[in-house]
This record gives sequence, C-alpha cells and structure tokens, in this order.
Amino acid sequence: MAHLTIPEFQQHKQQGKKLTVVTAYDALFTRIVEQAGLEVILVGDSLGMVVQGKTNTLSVTMEDMLYHTRLVAQTAQRSLVISDMPFLSYQVSVQEAVRNAGQFLQAGAAAVKLEGGLSVVDRVEAMTRFGIPVMGHVGMTPQSVNQSGGYRVQGKGQKEAEKILQEAKELEAAGAFALVLECVPSSLAHTITQALSIPTIGIGAGQGCDGQVLVLYDLLGLFDDFVPKFVKPYAHLKADALQALTRYKEEVECGKFPSDAESYN
Ligand code: KIV
Repeated sequence: MAHLTIPEFQQHKQQGKKLTVVTAYDALFTRIVEQAGLEVILVGDSLGMVVQGKTNTLSVTMEDMLYHTRLVAQTAQRSLVISDMPFLSYQVSVQEAVRNAGQFLQAGAAAVKLEGGLSVVDRVEAMTRFGIPVMGHVGMTPQSVNQSGGYRVQGKGQKEAEKILQEAKELEAAGAFALVLECVPSSLAHTITQALSIPTIGIGAGQGCDGQVLVLYDLLGLFDDFVPKFVKPYAHLKADALQALTRYKEEVECGKFPSDAESYN
C-alpha cells in the first residue's frame, strides 16, 4: 500500500479537506491509528513528557527520536510519517541541522518538523534544497519554554501577531511544506491560514486552520499530568487502565483469577 505523499497532503488545502494529524511513538499505536483511518503521524518530541515522564521536551535526544521514528515508520503502511527534530539537533549550525534531518529520512520518516521562526529559515531552506521536506512550527514552541516562561498563548498583541505572521510567510518562502500553529488566537491562525498556500495544522489554534494535531495520549485520556485547554479527551483510557489493574490485583488476591477458563487441564 502506498504512503500518503507530501503533494497529496498539500492538495487537501486546495480541496478544502481538513487534515487530521496525531502523534504516535510505537508500533502498537501506529497500527491503531491507521486502523482508525488516520494518515498523518507525527513522531513528536512530546514523547519526552508522555513516554519518558519529563516535565518538558528539552532532554529528548536524536537517539530517542530515531528509535521511536523507526518503530513508527517500520509499522506504518500508508501514513505520512513526520519526525520532530529534538532540541539542539538543528540549532547549532545549518550543516548539523541538515545532517540530523537526513538521519530521520534514513530511519524511515518522510519529513521532519522543527520549531522556530526567523532563526530556522536558513535551516528550512537548506533542508528543502537537499530534498528533505520540512514542517515548520510557530506560535508556542515548547523547546523555548525557558525563554517564554511557560506554556502560554502567543501572538495576543498586534506586534507579536504580526511577527508570527511574518515568520509563517518566511518559512513558506524557505520551502516548508506545512506549518504547525500552536497556541495562538483563532483569529491569528485564520489570518495565517488565508495568507499561506501551504497547509496550517493547528493545536490550540482554533477552527481556521487547514488541519489539527493532538498528542495521542492526550486525546485518549491517558496522560493527565497537564491537560491544556485545547485538549479534548475522546476516551478515558487512564481511568479504564486504573480500573482494570485494580480489579486484576483484587482477583489475584482473592483467588478469583486465574479461573478454570484461564487454566490448562
Ligand atoms: O511534540 C509534539 O507532539 C508536537 C505536537 C504537539 C505539535 O510538536
């Protein structure tokens, strides 16, 4: 089965068809995501928080991201797999950024995503020049959490909104094939979406984007350490897991499990 290509992904915008993106970090959930009919998977560095249990994404390494990219990419049958470039893998130089981005393609991803505006325009330009598709990410950029002082909505004031719009335009001009808009006012996301010919994928950016992305464990209700306003839990798997484990413990302790049905004669 053929994978969704970047031109096909981009055509959604022209056709007015919304794009649904979700994160995944392993083979099991990649299979479930594809069974549900989703076709775009982001191997997000959010795995630092939801898989590794850290309070931010800054300690996620290239090795971590490549490992999870391989798990997802080896399993995906038709999805477009995009991998997040972790902190420090693209900041130091254009050369390092291109080399690291290329490693994601070697690991099976079809594209990379990196955070930032004007400071990464030369990276995006170099990567696309060498055939590495790049998704930009502006607005709230979690790898800059220490500078922004927390996970806050960005672009509320006019000056800041204009800056984000400008960054979006420059990333498109540099060759980005799509752009994540995170935690920006809906009106700004709408303006950016109208101004660009590449698709915008929103997270906490309202309805005006060309598509949406959510962290898988947030939408499944598995991760509740920190639930931002933009998250809608479509399931409550943590509650289900807690109930299942509690019952299992009770049944082992009272001798109800295993019963004959789970035993061999
Ligand atoms: O790391 C991630 O999962 C992301 C999405 C939330 C956009 O960057």
